[in-house]
Amino acid sequence: MEGLPLLRDVTRMILDSDIIEDPKIVTAKHKVTEFRHPKELEKIFDLRIEDEPSTHEQMTKLCQDVLKYSVKTSKSSQIRLGLPSTLVFSVSDRAVAAIASSVLHDVGLITSNNSDLVVDENKLRRKKVKVRKDLKFQALSEAQALPLKGLYFDGRKDSTLIEERVDTKRYTRKAKEEHLSLIEELGSRYITHLSPSFGTAKQISATIIGYFKGITRDLSQLLEIAYDSTSVNTGGKSDVIRCLELKLGKPLQWVVTYRRAAAGSVGDDAVILSPTLRVRPRWSSGHPMFVSRLYQGVDGYGLAGAWLTEALNTNQTTYEVAPVFVLLEKALLDEMIRMVGWEEGEGIFCPGGSMANMYGMSLGRYYFNPSVKTKGLRELPPLVCFISDEAHYSVKKGALFLGLGTESVICVPTDSQGRMIPEELEKAVIKAKSEGKVPFFVGATSGTTVLGAYDPLKPLSDICKRHNMWLHVDGAWGGATIFSRTHRKLLDGVDRVDSITIDLHKMSGVPFQCTVFLTRHKGILYKCNALHAEYLFQPDTYYDTHYDLGDESIQCSRKVDCLKLWITWKARGNLGLEKQVDTAFAMAKYLAEKVRTTEGFIPVLDEFECTNICFWYVPPSLRGKEKEPDFWEKIAKVAPAIKGLAVKDGTMMISYQPMKNRNWVNFFRVIVHCIPTLTEEYMDNIIYLVQKYGEKL
Ligand SMILES: Cc1ncc(COP(=O)(O)O)c(C=O)c1O
Repeated sequence: MEGLPLLRDVTRMILDSDIIEDPKIVTAKHKVTEFRHPKELEKIFDLRIEDEPSTHEQMTKLCQDVLKYSVKTSKSSQIRLGLPSTLVFSVSDRAVAAIASSVLHDVGLITSNNSDLVVDENKLRRKKVKVRKDLKFQALSEAQALPLKGLYFDGRKDSTLIEERVDTKRYTRKAKEEHLSLIEELGSRYITHLSPSFGTAKQISATIIGYFKGITRDLSQLLEIAYDSTSVNTGGKSDVIRCLELKLGKPLQWVVTYRRAAAGSVGDDAVILSPTLRVRPRWSSGHPMFVSRLYQGVDGYGLAGAWLTEALNTNQTTYEVAPVFVLLEKALLDEMIRMVGWEEGEGIFCPGGSMANMYGMSLGRYYFNPSVKTKGLRELPPLVCFISDEAHYSVKKGALFLGLGTESVICVPTDSQGRMIPEELEKAVIKAKSEGKVPFFVGATSGTTVLGAYDPLKPLSDICKRHNMWLHVDGAWGGATIFSRTHRKLLDGVDRVDSITIDLHKMSGVPFQCTVFLTRHKGILYKCNALHAEYLFQPDTYYDTHYDLGDESIQCSRKVDCLKLWITWKARGNLGLEKQVDTAFAMAKYLAEKVRTTEGFIPVLDEFECTNICFWYVPPSLRGKEKEPDFWEKIAKVAPAIKGLAVKDGTMMISYQPMKNRNWVNFFRVIVHCIPTLTEEYMDNIIYLVQKYGEKL
């Protein structure tokens, strides 16, 4: 995964920071915030987005600054020094405390006026507990991220200090106890050690299985078990290995050795897909054969941002509680406004493309009817809006949510590629007007959900100007072409629209959720939505309250979604984001060509504008029967059958759908993603798998 080193550093930063602490040792001594005025903070953060990616060091520094200058919503620890060097074992805590304190005193850090840094035994004990906890957490979190493929275990009896109770008294004594160490192979990663109550095969195997159940680690892919040869392990019908095999319900590859020297059998477990391609069997949206949805695998950089965001647990309402995030949000919105081509504008991060489209509708309605804010719909004429008949359902949802009703949404016919036909829009507008309705909003789509069509924005904007309508672009899916100099032409005319939605969690691969709504009408979000709650938005406060974004939103609490994008963008640079989009388009083009030229595949369109590649598959058993009356009825069953076989085998997650407005029966839709980066082999594999399962039908 790209971004993994940063993710590791960020995890450590979070664990080492004041924000994750044992509540037993919390004190109010630490600052709740390193307050800086917005202008000062802007100087600390390098808010510019560059073409080139930032270095790892720059990214680490940025993340550290995010932690440093964010408000600490959780409590902080009493220990101000990390004390890592004092964590020596086999020396008494008392001795270490005395030496450390004297050294600090000698170098002048402890004085008669300031004894904060005195190291006492309790501090050391707590620190040791924390370090143990961190190490355990680190081992666990690293281990749990992947299914276990190979496990080495080794046991021995050790002398152990145990505590016994006799009546009310406790006695300690030494006893021999079974200890079992577990190591993950390949990589020889320590997992844990366990103490089975007896050294019998049954107990040992039950303890191992019980441990993995407790941490919900996936053992279903365990293939190889390594151990030293003892009779308990391998000796008879009910040795440890056989007990494990019985519990897992499958045979394992046995390796009777101390430690295997080289990579080998564990790697050979890959699910074999096409004859040329093997994929590590990890079933998630990050699997290259997860091609069914408009979202995709998780971006390592974005995940680092997401973890930092979660750890800081704050809210975008005001600068006071989210100083860093407010600045980043503003900087990102400004950058995107510039990219759209507007001289000025504003925007907001909101929870998903549907919500962003609703913002567009709400602002459009307010723009032409400001009284709606106070009087509601009572004094308004019957408003209507227009979308293409291929548009996402969110505009209809918006209509029902805004009290307009779904019947106020008029669907405009599309051309053979799925694009709204401007002449049809104008006809529909004129018709609606002649019926006494008032058109106020056109929702164009840049990248429709199924066919990936881009509505022609220039002619649509001319019509909107002529008829006084707000033009919003739903670029939830295809708006990401804004990052590509090659494919940006699909958004031609976007600088003329009133507002736009871009879901960064779709094509750009930023972790859920990350949606930007932008409008070129500066100030309108505030005018339309602000209610000036006096307990939250105070004009007489100690900083420049222009930085408080909360009243522009229709939410009160608003999750911080900008950091994921900021880190991804800084780490990849403009060129990195562009390359992702260009690669996905190139792979989609390759797949489309395969679909066009491979026997049995019928593309639903002559050309695909976006990275949605849609096709029917005619299995060998139906070829040559195209003229038979029930041919299409039979084809309708092919995609669901193939999908079912692929999912049950775990080889591919693909989607299909009919399109009633075109009288099309079920066809496949492959979504070519940015993350993970797809290659021609994967595209070939899609064709191979459809053929492989289709042959059986
Ligand atoms: C074109 C389009 N617009 C809007 C949406 C809704 O976006 P979200 O799922 O972020 O609410 C989708 C979702 O797939 C979509 O394809």
